[in-house]
Parts: sequence; structure tokens; C-alpha cells
Amino acid sequence: MNEWLIIPAFFCAWFVIKLRGEQGFFVPLSMGTVRAMLRMAKVKRGEKLYDLGSGDGRTVIEAARMGAIGVGIEYSIPVHMLAKIRLALSGARGVTLMRKDLFKIKLDDADVVTFYLTPKLAKMLGPKFRRELKKGTRVVSAAHEIPGWAPVEKIKTGHFWTYLYKL
Ligand SMILES: C[S@@+](CC[C@H](N)C(=O)[O-])C[C@H]1O[C@@H](n2cnc3c(N)ncnc32)[C@H](O)[C@@H]1O
Repeated sequence: MNEWLIIPAFFCAWFVIKLRGEQGFFVPLSMGTVRAMLRMAKVKRGEKLYDLGSGDGRTVIEAARMGAIGVGIEYSIPVHMLAKIRLALSGARGVTLMRKDLFKIKLDDADVVTFYLTPKLAKMLGPKFRRELKKGTRVVSAAHEIPGWAPVEKIKTGHFWTYLYKL
């Protein structure tokens, strides 16, 4: 093997390893599901929407197209880089992308919170939402219920359910 191939091979391996966030890989939602989640939350112009584990930024970019202020929180470095590229190509305004652990972000100014994570993270987020979210905040979770919370609405999106909660 040509020894110069070691460098790109190393970079590819690093990229794949880092596609995993703190907990869980980057698996993008379909744009149909993203739009259904935003419709469910009735996102309005000027509202602040946080997407937790925002992947390539598709949800916050779509929310910004509807006039909302989108804040995407993504832990994985290469996925965060992908989101930066997607945002630049989209030309959308009003989007902030943060490379952070979602548990280290305060959510007290959120009007809407969306996420597509794991059952374990959905369970861990429940107490954080109770502590930090103001009354009236809408929370939309793709695929996983927040244990112990009663959804005000649920719809079938593709092969899974998506849940809307209101604080
Ligand atoms: C299933 S993907 C969803 C991506 C995007 N929201 C979408 O719908 O297309 C979950 C994302 O959450 C990120 N993630 C997992 N744990 C995280 C954490 N503690 N803080 C920030 N991001 C996290 C992963 O890196 C991954 O990109």
C-alpha cells in the first residue's frame, strides 16, 4: 500500500468515529418529518427554537426559513462542520450552530424544543425540561416518548411516531 494513503485513511477513520455524538450516531430525519415537527409545534415568526443534537442543521435551517430563530446544538465535530456547510449553502439567516453537549445548554429562553435522539436521552431530558423551560414551551420529540409525560398530540411520521408536549 502506498504510505501516503495512510493520511487520508486516518482522516476518514477519524471522521467516521467522530460522527458519533456523546450518545448516538448522526441519523438524519427526512425533510417531510422535519416539516411535520415544525407544523406540529406551530412555529411562529420570531420564536426561538432549539434543536438538540441538531445533526447537519436541517431542522434549524427549516425553522429559520419560517422566520424563527434557530439554535442547533451538536456535539460531534464533523457533523457540526457539515451543518456549517449546509447553513452556508442554504443562505438562511437567524441560525446559530453550537458545537456543545446539549446538557450544558440552558433552555430558559426557548419557545420550541425539538429533538431526535435515543430513548435514554429522552428520559434524561425530562427533568432538565421541567427545571429550565418556561410555561407554554412546546417540545417535539421524534420517535421517542419522554417517559412519564403525556403528549398533547402524536402523529405517525414515516415508520415511527412523533410526540408533541406542552409545558
Ligand atoms: C439521530 S441524530 C439527529 C440529527 C438531526 N436532529 C436530524 O433530525 O436530522 C442525533 C444527533 O445528536 C447528536 N448528539 C448525541 N448526543 C449529543 C449530546 N449530548 N449533545 C449534543 N449532540 C448530541 C449526535 O451527534 C447526532 O448528530
